[in-house]
Amino acid sequence: MINRIIMALAFLALASLIMTSSFAELQRFQHPAKGDGSLSFLVVGDWGRRGFYNQSQVAVQMGKVAEKLDIDFVVSTGDNFYDDGLEGETDPAFEESFTKIYTAKSLQKKWYTVLGNHDYRGDVEAQLSPVLRKIDSRWICLRSFIVNAEFVDFFFVDTTPFVDAYLTDPDHTYNWRGVIPRENYLANLQKDLELGLRESRAKWKIVVGHHGIRSAGHHGDTQDLVDRLLPILKANDVDLYMNGHDHCLEHITSLDSPIQYLTSGGGSKAWGHEFRDYDKDAMKFFYDGQGFMSVYITPTDAKIVVYDVFGQVLHKWSTSKELHSAI
Ligand SMILES: *[C@@H]1O[C@H](CO)[C@@H](O)[C@H](O)[C@H]1NC(C)=O
Repeated sequence: MINRIIMALAFLALASLIMTSSFAELQRFQHPAKGDGSLSFLVVGDWGRRGFYNQSQVAVQMGKVAEKLDIDFVVSTGDNFYDDGLEGETDPAFEESFTKIYTAKSLQKKWYTVLGNHDYRGDVEAQLSPVLRKIDSRWICLRSFIVNAEFVDFFFVDTTPFVDAYLTDPDHTYNWRGVIPRENYLANLQKDLELGLRESRAKWKIVVGHHGIRSAGHHGDTQDLVDRLLPILKANDVDLYMNGHDHCLEHITSLDSPIQYLTSGGGSKAWGHEFRDYDKDAMKFFYDGQGFMSVYITPTDAKIVVYDVFGQVLHKWSTSKELHSAI
């Protein structure tokens, strides 16, 4: 009798182990924080244009800020190579738009990178290939993955497959290899993200995707993400959502959750001269031009700074965890 109970319990434990592990499929990377208990990184998006459209100027300023902050890594919010991603693993655009542009010593750190919609118009799998890592070891590009940086957990999410409109886009073809059947892909991704967020014990949770959830730029809010991603972020105490897609720099706050929406899509071509009416209470900052952001974060404080193409500070915002819990 006792033996049977033990066997039944063992079976249940095994079954639950198998069930949880079948959801927890996002690949994880570990990134140590600095000895002083802080972490610094830059955020840039929508950049790969062989240096044109001020990409090189932004890169130079990124190098200076990265040196000053002694950054730990760079986050790229996607649309890595224009116009149509890479043609293959040996496409010279990889070196012409990345390796030969971000040359500062301070930028020779890991680049944690998501894919954008333009990347999906080329050989999307080439950007995920270990061959690129052999050419430039900074390059860490996966569809969706997690970076555990001690007191901060980063969740990188492949947002392009969420956008319904791309399925019927008459002007462009997208490479959906590895994504179809799409509903499976999205359902698994939502499950994996939810589980990863729920299990996270980090002080800060940061989610990175290419498409904006909230944006006052050309594309505006991405309704597919508002419907399918935002509820997961809200339910799991996410602090920051960072994206590109709109070629601007913006900070929108939430009126119904602690989430801050940060668009860093000014890595090259900008000046779209488009700005939508947006809730004045939520809109903290909008700049219709090129630049990038920096984040300095400790277990209790986070500070975000936005820079233009000359390295001038355009906007600063900081928050404190202790402050939040005291309210
Ligand atoms: C480069 O940046 C300057 C300063 O913001 C801007 O005036 C100029 O139009 C930009 N050039 C391009 C091609 O975007």
